[in-house]
Amino acid sequence: MAQQNRLIQDARYERRRRKLLKQIKGEIAIFPAAPEQPKSRDQLFPYQPNTDLLYLTGFEEAHSVLVLLGSTKGPRSILYLRDRDALHERWNGERLGLKRARRRFAVDEVHPIEAFESQLMKLLEPFQTLHYPAGVNPRIDQIIWRAFCSQTAPRVQGPHTIRDARLLTSLMRIRKDREEIRALRHICEITANAFVHIAPLLKSAKSELHAARMLEAEFFKLGAHGVAFNTIVASGKNATVLHHEPSLQPLWKRELVLIDAGASFQGYAADISRTIPPSGKFTDAQAKVYDVVLAALEASLERCQPGSDLEAIHTACVRALIRGLQELDIIKSPAPKAYNDAEYRRYYMHRTGHWLGLDVHDVAPIYCGEYLVPPSSRPLEPGNVFTVEPGLYFDSNDETVPPEFRGIGIRIEEDVVITATGAEVLTSGVPRARLEVEQLIR
Ligand code: GLY
Ligand code: MN
Ligand code: MN
Repeated sequence: MAQQNRLIQDARYERRRRKLLKQIKGEIAIFPAAPEQPKSRDQLFPYQPNTDLLYLTGFEEAHSVLVLLGSTKGPRSILYLRDRDALHERWNGERLGLKRARRRFAVDEVHPIEAFESQLMKLLEPFQTLHYPAGVNPRIDQIIWRAFCSQTAPRVQGPHTIRDARLLTSLMRIRKDREEIRALRHICEITANAFVHIAPLLKSAKSELHAARMLEAEFFKLGAHGVAFNTIVASGKNATVLHHEPSLQPLWKRELVLIDAGASFQGYAADISRTIPPSGKFTDAQAKVYDVVLAALEASLERCQPGSDLEAIHTACVRALIRGLQELDIIKSPAPKAYNDAEYRRYYMHRTGHWLGLDVHDVAPIYCGEYLVPPSSRPLEPGNVFTVEPGLYFDSNDETVPPEFRGIGIRIEEDVVITATGAEVLTSGVPRARLEVEQLIR
């Protein structure tokens, strides 16, 4: 990625490493890159970096490992990576290489990745505890495990304990710094503008898949670096499948189309959903359901403030949905019973939001040991970023639902950052009020 096309500079990544180092005095942490994923024979899927390594370095190449040493003498940070290689680069593109990595990253040492295994024992020796995220890269897992197993008992040197390194990074990543919020705001604006651009073009889309690719093309035209997750474009009853994959099916003109998509910038994801009538007009039945979901969204947003939590937001959402479902004559029990018996879950089966950041479903603080608060009950504080995404999904054969509502699926999703005094909706560039959504088509 060109250095100038970035909002987060290398000094910020260095500050994050320093912050982590303060928490591992006398201990060692190792963060491997994610492996490349084969798609077909010698073809690979687009590379998806390990977001903890990305968070700590901004480096997006496979075959790299970051080592942080909480010692008072010797190097404190070492980056292992592939060196330059003209033949490989001819086929697969430019690598940063050791020399430039040394200049770019304020790490104490840079070594070729091939040296990692042979140097590992020596690195581990002075430490009792290793922080390591098992499962990210099976090949590095094996190297670590071999090193851990190889010493004769009783062990006198090297770590006795492996702790999940995500206990450290998740707590750092949950609260976004100023530059992260800038990156998130930027990518939410790009994604919102692309939604606004695509809405009037839906009429001419040949298929769900065509609409999805048109939207993604707009992301890149507006300066996005990537697509954060598989774009969902779902026409009519396909919208009742939460993660529907866009198909070659043409968009049904009188049906709604649900679009759930997000671009990415320096790894940071946006995640927007809108449900739009390609005809430019909601039918009466569609409008009634839309207004229930919209009311649930507004009720949820009211709960987005410091000190609240995701559980309270979800509860507000569910209570609003129950009220709406009663008005639509779908839930017939009194609200407390509908809530306690989770009668709404047949029509609203997901949570109201998730943390958002370098992962679209961003890391939640791990709930164990000294971290005794479940992530959904963690009091919200400035810098927390998450989605708010109520929906209703009526199966086309569901006889508990009046016939005019069957096959309707609606989700409206906004991305929110908690501020000192409340919350900012980062995705308000796409209208959500029903009449304004209709006007998007014209
Ligand atoms: N796009 C996936 C989600 O909204 O969680
Ligand atoms: Mn989401
Ligand atoms: Mn989404």
